[in-house]
Formats: sequence, C-alpha cells, structure tokens
Amino acid sequence: MNFWHFIICSTFFLSFATSDLDEDLKRILDIYNDNPECHFNYTEISSKTVKFFPKCPSVAGIIVINNNTDLSSKQLEKAFSKLSNFSGGILIENSNLTDLSFFPPKVFKFYCDNYGMFIRNNEFLTNADYLIQLSYIPYAGARECPLSIENNPRLDLSEVCNSQSYTVTELTEMTTKGNLVNCGCQGGEEMLSSSLQDFSDCSIMYGGLNLINVTDTESLSALSNLHDIRGSFNIQNSNFQNLSFLSKLENMCFRSESLVFNLQNNLNMTRLELPTLRSIQNPLWLSITIFENLHPDFCLTIDEFKRLTEMWIGFQKLDAKLCEPSADEYRLCRFVSMADLLNNCVTIIGKVVIGEGDDDHATKLMRVKNIFGTLTIQNTQLKNFSFFDQLSMIVHLEDSDPVIKILGNKNLTYPKIGSISAIHTRFNKTAIIQDNHPKIFNWTNGTCELFGNSPYKMDLLVTYRRMLDYVGEDCGARVDLLSSFDPRMMTFISLIALLWFLV
Ligand SMILES: *[C@@H]1O[C@H](CO)[C@@H](O)[C@H](O)[C@H]1NC(C)=O
Ligand SMILES: *[C@@H]1O[C@H](CO)[C@@H](O)[C@H](O)[C@H]1NC(C)=O
Ligand SMILES: *[C@@H]1O[C@H](CO)[C@@H](O)[C@H](O)[C@H]1NC(C)=O
Ligand SMILES: *[C@@H]1O[C@H](CO)[C@@H](O)[C@H](O)[C@H]1NC(C)=O
Ligand SMILES: *[C@@H]1O[C@H](CO)[C@@H](O)[C@H](O)[C@H]1NC(C)=O
Ligand SMILES: *[C@@H]1O[C@H](CO)[C@@H](O)[C@H](O)[C@H]1NC(C)=O
Ligand SMILES: *[C@@H]1O[C@H](CO)[C@@H](O)[C@H](O)[C@H]1NC(C)=O
Ligand SMILES: *[C@@H]1O[C@H](CO)[C@@H](O)[C@H](O)[C@H]1NC(C)=O
Ligand SMILES: *[C@@H]1O[C@H](CO)[C@@H](O)[C@H](O)[C@H]1NC(C)=O
Ligand SMILES: *[C@@H]1O[C@H](CO)[C@@H](O)[C@H](O)[C@H]1NC(C)=O
Ligand SMILES: *[C@@H]1O[C@H](CO)[C@@H](O)[C@H](O)[C@H]1NC(C)=O
Ligand SMILES: *[C@@H]1O[C@H](CO)[C@@H](O)[C@H](O)[C@H]1NC(C)=O
Repeated sequence: MNFWHFIICSTFFLSFATSDLDEDLKRILDIYNDNPECHFNYTEISSKTVKFFPKCPSVAGIIVINNNTDLSSKQLEKAFSKLSNFSGGILIENSNLTDLSFFPPKVFKFYCDNYGMFIRNNEFLTNADYLIQLSYIPYAGARECPLSIENNPRLDLSEVCNSQSYTVTELTEMTTKGNLVNCGCQGGEEMLSSSLQDFSDCSIMYGGLNLINVTDTESLSALSNLHDIRGSFNIQNSNFQNLSFLSKLENMCFRSESLVFNLQNNLNMTRLELPTLRSIQNPLWLSITIFENLHPDFCLTIDEFKRLTEMWIGFQKLDAKLCEPSADEYRLCRFVSMADLLNNCVTIIGKVVIGEGDDDHATKLMRVKNIFGTLTIQNTQLKNFSFFDQLSMIVHLEDSDPVIKILGNKNLTYPKIGSISAIHTRFNKTAIIQDNHPKIFNWTNGTCELFGNSPYKMDLLVTYRRMLDYVGEDCGARVDLLSSFDPRMMTFISLIALLWFLV
C-alpha cells in the first residue's frame, strides 16, 4: 500500500477549492445544470452583482463574500431571503462580517459535496453558530462536504463543536485552525510535519491519525488525551509494540469505502491494546482494515476479534495469530473430536471435523457462536446444519487450508450455516463443496452459497464479510483434494511410494 496514495484517497476533495474560482463555478453550474435561470453566475457578491442573485428558492453557484463585498449584513440577508435550497459552495474570506446571521433564518439545505464551505481570514468574525443549524446535504451515507474554518482570530467555535448537530459531529475531515477556539486538532497530512508535542491538549482529532516512520516512543505520551479520532487511522514503519499510548481512545469515526484502519510494517508490534475503544463508525461501509507485516507474534484476543467484528471492521489483510486465551474464557473448548466435545461450548478452537458416524453428536454444537479454526463436514448423513443456528463468526489464521469443507454428505439438501456475520481469514477464504447430495443447492436455485442472502443494507455488509471463494464439483470444477489441499498427506503418499519402491 502506497502511503501517498492512501492519503490522497482519503483527502482528495480538499483540492476542490484550490483551483481558479471561475473554473470551479463552471464545474458547479455544469453539475447542477437543470435550471440556468436559477444559477448565480458571478464569483463575488457585491453591490454590482447582488441584483443578479436569482430569486428562486433553489439556487446553484458559489457565494463568495470577501473584501469586495460592499454590502451590509442586512443587505445580504435580503438577497438570500428566498433561499431554501443552495447547491455549490460558500466562500467567506477577508470580510468584515461579525457573524453569519445573514443566511435565511429557517434551515436551508446546502448541497455542498461538490465544493463545500470555506470561512477564512475574517478579522471581525466572532460567531459562527449558524453552522449548527445549516443542513448539509448529503450528511449521511454519502461523501462528506469539505468544511474549513481557518484564521479567524476572534472566532470561538466551541458552541459549534460541542453542538449535537449531526451535520458537524459527523464530519471527519473538517478543518478548523488559527481561530480563537478551534474544534479539536488537525491530524491527517498536517500531522506528518508537526511534532507530537503539539497534540498534548488534543482530545478530538480531525483528518485522521497518521504516524509514519515514528520511532520516538517517548513522545507518544502526547497522544494520551485523545479520545476521538475522525478520519483514517494509519500507523506505518514504527517500532511500537502496541497502541497502549492511545490510553483514552474511545471512538473512531470514518467516512469511506476504502482503507481506513491501517497498521503496516510495524515490526515490533505484538499486540493491539486498545482496551478503551468502544465504537468504530463508518456510515458508508465496513471499516476496511489492514494488519500487515507486524511482529511475527502479533496476535488478537478472542475478545478483540469479537469487538472488532461487532464494530463492523472488514479485514483486507490480517497478518495475525490468535493470542493464547485466558483460562476463564467463557465456555471455551479445544476441539479434539466430536465424540469428546462438551455439550455447551460457545467458542471452539481447532479444526472442527464432523465426520462419518458423528451425526448424533452434531447437536452438541447448538450453542457454538465462534470457531477459531476450520470447519469440515464430511461423509455424514446430515440433511441440514440446523444445529449451527448460533454460529456467527469463523476466524481462520493458521494456514491456507479452506476454511470450510463440505464433502460427501449424500443426504444434505439444506446446507445453510447459522447466522454468520463474519469470516476472517489470514490466507485464502476458500470453501470446498464436493460429492454431496446432487440437489444440495436446490434451496438457492443452484447458486453455490452456504449462508443465504437478505435484502437489508446491514446484510449487504454481512454478505460481503462472509463471502467465500467456492470451489469443488458442487460449485464448478472438481478439486483434487489430496494434491491441492493437504501437503502432509502428499508427504505421506510419497513416503509410501518410496517405501514401495525400496521394497
Ligand atoms: C446565468 O447564465 C446562463 C447561461 O449564460 C443564463 O442562461 C442564465 O439566465 C444566467 N442566470 C441568471 C440568473 O442570470
Ligand atoms: C482584498 O484582499 C486581497 C487579499 O488579501 C487583496 O489582494 C486585495 O487587494 C483586497 N482588495 C481590496 C479591494 O481591498
Ligand atoms: C471593512 O472595514 C474597514 C475598516 O474597518 C474598512 O476600511 C473597509 O472598507 C471595510 N470593508 C468593507 C467591505 O466593508
Ligand atoms: C434542491 O437542490 C437539489 C440539487 O440541485 C435537488 O436535487 C433538489 O431536488 C432540490 N430541492 C428542492 C426542494 O428544490
Ligand atoms: C518513511 O521512510 C521511508 C524510508 O526511509 C521513506 O521512503 C518515506 O518517504 C518516509 N515516509 C514519510 C511519510 O516520512
Ligand atoms: C505495550 O507497549 C509498552 C511499551 O510501549 C510496553 O511497556 C507494554 O508492556 C506493552 N504491552 C503489551 C501487552 O505488550
Ligand atoms: C524492535 O525489534 C528489534 C528487532 O526485533 C529490536 O532490536 C529492537 O530493540 C526492538 N525495539 C523496541 C523498541 O522494542
Ligand atoms: C433438519 O434435519 C432434521 C433431521 O435431520 C429435521 O428434523 C429438521 O426438520 C431439519 N430442519 C430443517 C430446517 O430442514
Ligand atoms: C440417507 O440417504 C440414504 C439413501 O439416499 C438413506 O438410505 C438413508 O437412510 C439416509 N439417511 C438418513 C439419516 O436419512
Ligand atoms: C489461494 O488462493 C490463490 C488465489 O485465489 C490460489 O492461487 C491458491 O492456489 C490458493 N491456495 C490454496 C492453498 O488454496
Ligand atoms: C428443487 O426446488 C424446486 C423449486 O425451486 C422444487 O420444485 C423441487 O422439488 C426441488 N427438488 C428437490 C429435490 O428438493
Ligand atoms: C428460486 O426460483 C424460484 C422460481 O424462479 C423463485 O420463486 C424463488 O424465489 C427462487 N429462490 C431463491 C432462493 O432464489
């Protein structure tokens, strides 16, 4: 993963407002092109242009208020009084404004994702509370609006930052700096050029946490007040053993469908250690996560797997082991055989095999929620897997064996497995399905699928997270089980062959 690519992807929209204003205006008007008579065609609002501000309820353009704006707050208020819907951008810079009360008093909808709002260098601006009631569209489930409030030396943003307004509190990339009081501090790209000491008062970080090439572990204590990180989390090329320096971190908030949680090339990292973390939010998608090239002993606990899964993480790369479980782990069993298995296991570690003659033992699995290992169901006469109704997570970290094998179950006509919410694997995410009842996938009209689908949005995340590569004759091409999937068996066969030859 190229670091700059990662940064650029996560903050690409910041470039929107840096190019020439006329170009930007043209771009905006091309996007919202349905009502040209409701376009504001000027890149500045002043006594010369205000008469061209459309009297429509729904206007598109860029409202620029700057040092050429020779209009009072009252005059601006009048110009905007009809406005209930505005698409494009708002730029307020070098003005003499003291507040933003000139916007229409009733909530107006600001379609801001193609430009955003920039408020900077306004020497007299003291109050921006209007931002609390502004309705940013899109605000949920879509791209974030760029919002930047900089260098307004008299502006105290604490009301805005502390408001429960969803519009402000859901933003992850908002920039506030150089004001009398800012909203949290700025991480992201800027973090790379600053010293960690600058963050010692920081409890909310916008723009994401970026620690690249940091090897001075002493300085990390400056991050110990951080309880809220908004924007992607990215730690690379460090010598950290774990993340315990984020000792108060409670919330992470992302807004992205691509990589947001990245731990890469941290060769001393053996543990995660984020015990206070209680929420990871991403209104757009699973929080895509990479744990890659860490210490060879890097491990996650059973509890960490459960919590990260509940917080809707999706692993794109998972170079991890399972930490040695503690003795008091709730109803933990190690798999030896179905005959030996206890009745009430909730978590099983090991390669679970339900084989010939185990049919009657299958009901022992009725309470199992998590399997750390693989699942093989082979040569049984089971008709269905209804005993797996509770099974919700499978984690397979040991080798590239298929995570699920369903082989030679001649009576199996309903192979639906549990209510699985995640399958996490370190290597391949393969299932082999072969030699079962010829109508095994009649229930899905022939589609090779063990979990079934349902139409809800949450289920889309689930469907993605438990998706398997299905192989085997019941799904397509026959797999030669001996040669491709069991190297030990191959060694054994070659040994027999060798002995045979010698004899
Ligand atoms: C803005 O410009 C377009 C195209 O030049 C024109 O059709 C439209 O009437 C103008 N809008 C206003 C409000 O003047
Ligand atoms: C407005 O501010 C800009 C940037 O500070 C400056 O270059 C320009 O001369 C100013 N214009 C007026 C009319 O004051
Ligand atoms: C802003 O205030 C300064 C002095 O206070 C004044 O010279 C200037 O004309 C004002 N600018 C505008 C656009 O009203
Ligand atoms: C407001 O503007 C957006 C984008 O131009 C448009 O999709 C929406 O229908 C408008 N809403 C109203 C009430 O005019
Ligand atoms: C990190 O270090 C590597 C190798 O020393 C260098 O190529 C890279 O540019 C550095 N990255 C940053 C963000 O400092
Ligand atoms: C976490 O790292 C710190 C040093 O940064 C170390 O003192 C501590 O023992 C580590 N904790 C675990 C569980 O590895
Ligand atoms: C990191 O690991 C290297 C090699 O394993 C070791 O020499 C070094 O002391 C470790 N650094 C820290 C801070 O633990
Ligand atoms: C599953 O199979 C058992 C017998 O093996 C049967 O009693 C039960 O009704 C079946 N359940 C479903 C949902 O088909
Ligand atoms: C499985 O199917 C075979 C024939 O297809 C039948 O003889 C046998 O009784 C079935 N087993 C069960 C448990 O239903
Ligand atoms: C793992 O997956 C890769 C790519 O799908 C495939 O080439 C490889 O043979 C698989 N390995 C095993 C052991 O299944
Ligand atoms: C397969 O499903 C069809 C309907 O989708 C049904 O008519 C048929 O009886 C089923 N066959 C078996 C063997 O269950
Ligand atoms: C299977 O196909 C039948 C008929 O085309 C349809 O009614 C049924 O909903 C389908 N079932 C599934 C699980 O796709």
